[in-house]
Amino acid sequence: MKPVAAITGTSKGIGRGLAEYFVDHGYLVAGCSRGPSTLELEGYQHTQVDVSDENQVAEWVYSIKEDYDGVDVLVCNAGLAPSFLLVMTPGKVLEPVLATNICGTYYVCRGIAKLMMRRRSGCIITVSSMAAGLHLEGTSAYSASKSAIVEMTKIFAKELAPFGITCNVIAPSMIMTEAVKALGEKTIKSALSKLTIKRELSMEEICNVISFFTAPESRCITGQVIHMGLVV
Ligand SMILES: NC(=O)c1ccc[n+]([C@@H]2O[C@H](COP(=O)([O-])OP(=O)(O)OC[C@H]3O[C@@H](n4cnc5c(N)ncnc54)[C@H](OP(=O)(O)O)[C@@H]3O)[C@@H](O)[C@H]2O)c1
Repeated sequence: MKPVAAITGTSKGIGRGLAEYFVDHGYLVAGCSRGPSTLELEGYQHTQVDVSDENQVAEWVYSIKEDYDGVDVLVCNAGLAPSFLLVMTPGKVLEPVLATNICGTYYVCRGIAKLMMRRRSGCIITVSSMAAGLHLEGTSAYSASKSAIVEMTKIFAKELAPFGITCNVIAPSMIMTEAVKALGEKTIKSALSKLTIKRELSMEEICNVISFFTAPESRCITGQVIHMGLVV
């Protein structure tokens, strides 16, 4: 039987690249995002889910249980990454970022962890960012949410270790997705100049870290954060 990967935020960017990677490596992939996906691959199934909505996540997890019975790998990738300054940011801009990045990650990990616990096995990977280590102006909400993801993942790692589930974090530096391009050339240049390895990442480099976390030989690696392109 093929292994199963659940991945959030697969309609574009890193999530879409990860869905392609897992299908290529023999997985059945359950992907989601708020909008539809144009990804048509055998073994890939897309569901429209807003991860910040607890009920929608619960329904998605239930459908995964019905369709696949269990999940081997979860990548909680869905995220919003706007850039805005403290004094110019109303709650209606702030709240979706916190709801998606923090609550969304929490709800999805909670739902899928329950499926993994039944089988006493699983690999959870959450997605933080270089922003959490750089303290860049304009990223207070985003960086706070990405720091929260690191903290919650380390605690999930302790709570879920007795069930054979590992929980780790990938913190990419920068890869040119729509979300990054929207930040504008000046912000991108400035962020790249602050990295230890001052260049953008490739999807292959991100998949390499994911493959490390999912490898059977990594069953003893949990609560870890791999920062890419940056010494934190
Ligand atoms: N690109 C980078 O350089 C970089 C660096 C560090 C960390 N990251 C992190 O990597 C992840 C992916 O980033 P990206 O650059 O690939 O972003 P992206 O191109 O904007 O893609 C984000 C994905 O998440 C989905 N999404 C957003 N909000 C959602 C929600 N509430 N519920 C479900 N799906 C949602 C989007 O689809 P819909 O709009 O259809 O919902 C889309 O599929 C994010 O967590 C980001 O913070 C990216």
